[in-house]
Amino acid sequence: MQRTLVKHALEAAAPSDAILLQGWVRTRRDAKAFSFIELNDGSCLKGIQVIADAALPNYATEIAHAHTGASVEVRGKLVASQGSGQKWEVVAEKFAVLGAADATYPLQKKGHTLEFLREIAHLRPRSNLFGAVFRVRSRLAFAIHEFFQRKEFFYVHTPIVTASDCEGAGEMFRVSTLDPKSPPKAGDGAIDYQQDFFARPTYLTVSGQLEAEIFATALSNVYTFGPTFRAENSNTSRHAAEFWMIEPEMAFCDLTGDMDLAEEFVKHLIRDAKEHCAADLEFFSKFVDKGLLARLDFVLERPFQRCSYTEAIEIFAQSGKAWEHPVAWGDNLQSEHERFLAEEHFKCPVTVYNYPRTLKPFYMRVNEDGKTVAAMDLLVPGIGEIIGGSQREERLDVLRENLAHHQLSEKDYWWYLDLRRYGTVPHAGFGLGFERMLMFVTGVGNIRDVIPFARTPGSAEF
Ligand code: 4AD
Ligand code: MG
Repeated sequence: MQRTLVKHALEAAAPSDAILLQGWVRTRRDAKAFSFIELNDGSCLKGIQVIADAALPNYATEIAHAHTGASVEVRGKLVASQGSGQKWEVVAEKFAVLGAADATYPLQKKGHTLEFLREIAHLRPRSNLFGAVFRVRSRLAFAIHEFFQRKEFFYVHTPIVTASDCEGAGEMFRVSTLDPKSPPKAGDGAIDYQQDFFARPTYLTVSGQLEAEIFATALSNVYTFGPTFRAENSNTSRHAAEFWMIEPEMAFCDLTGDMDLAEEFVKHLIRDAKEHCAADLEFFSKFVDKGLLARLDFVLERPFQRCSYTEAIEIFAQSGKAWEHPVAWGDNLQSEHERFLAEEHFKCPVTVYNYPRTLKPFYMRVNEDGKTVAAMDLLVPGIGEIIGGSQREERLDVLRENLAHHQLSEKDYWWYLDLRRYGTVPHAGFGLGFERMLMFVTGVGNIRDVIPFARTPGSAEF
């Protein structure tokens, strides 16, 4: 007999005389003549109630030991439920415990703290919260491909190991096979990376953008979706050392087109989650963030606000707020400023654009004022930046100047410069942090809880 997922059993249109379910015991309640077992298989938030009659031959020897956490297989009938709260339940005819679990199973019914659950990341997917998070994560990964494929963007696999620091922030993890105890030295005493695996210094990528630009200037519209790495020692609820990023890149596109796509994309993902993960979102709005569903609707209904960096600085000055980090024109925006804009001033997602040139990487297009670049950051309430993007510098002479400004060598970026030498075009793109998007959609407040296995400073268990 074929297995039925709990999700489909719960949605059944009619009763069934023979059904096979497999999953894990969430709870068991014993009455005199039978036991109620809640069976969950992760296919959806809810479990299904199984009734095991005490007259079953293995009741005392086996079923009575089917504790929380045990894996079981149930054959029986799907019948209309007597109790309230669910349409169907299963009357077991055969009930087998496949893998027992005893009282030391860490996920007993009571609520656990997120901190504790992080320590048991190998078991937390079996909890309601993490089951819901990872179902939404899976669905949105699919929705991302669907969004771009429908728009005829091509998916490009950019390299994980790279020799170039796209963001120029010096936050890269080195990739090396040299013996750390006695690395070969060059004449000047420095480590001789000529003798390393790739015959040069190499790192884990911080972004697939530069390579995506290669493909955008050939296939027109492309996107990447892969892991990126940052050795940024910031222990916040929004930073991970390993995270997934989606980076569309469009030829023949300017900053306005880029901001338009970012807004459409974010709204598409919210709409998709609402449509396909309704029960999980309801769970989040009940137990994680009461305002979640209303906020998502609000975000869908209204156009995102747009404001230049210069306007934003004005807004901060006029706000009358006592800032922990006061900002003047030319300063980086801190999280308190970003959140003020989205949460208090505009009270909705806002795209800040045209940042000071000195704050941004070498590849961003210099505006006519010579002081700002065509950059944009999408800030959302509760999180701050979820997207960073820009129009790229397509003019060879200006790009060379930018490289010099950033003390980068033309030799290292020869291929990037070639894109401007041969058939250069205006082009633009952005990066969406997948985990930050998931935080926004689920209301979960810590990035460690929306990625299966968090990599953060001092922590790489599992
Ligand atoms: O703003 P960032 O650094 O932009 C880039 O990497 C560009 N190359 C993207 C592009 O134009 N193609 O990063 C993009 C997004 C951020 O807005 C944020 O959502 C996420 O990536 N991000 C992080 N997410 C989790 N942990 C970190 N340490 C992150 N750093 C950036
Ligand atoms: Mg950024």
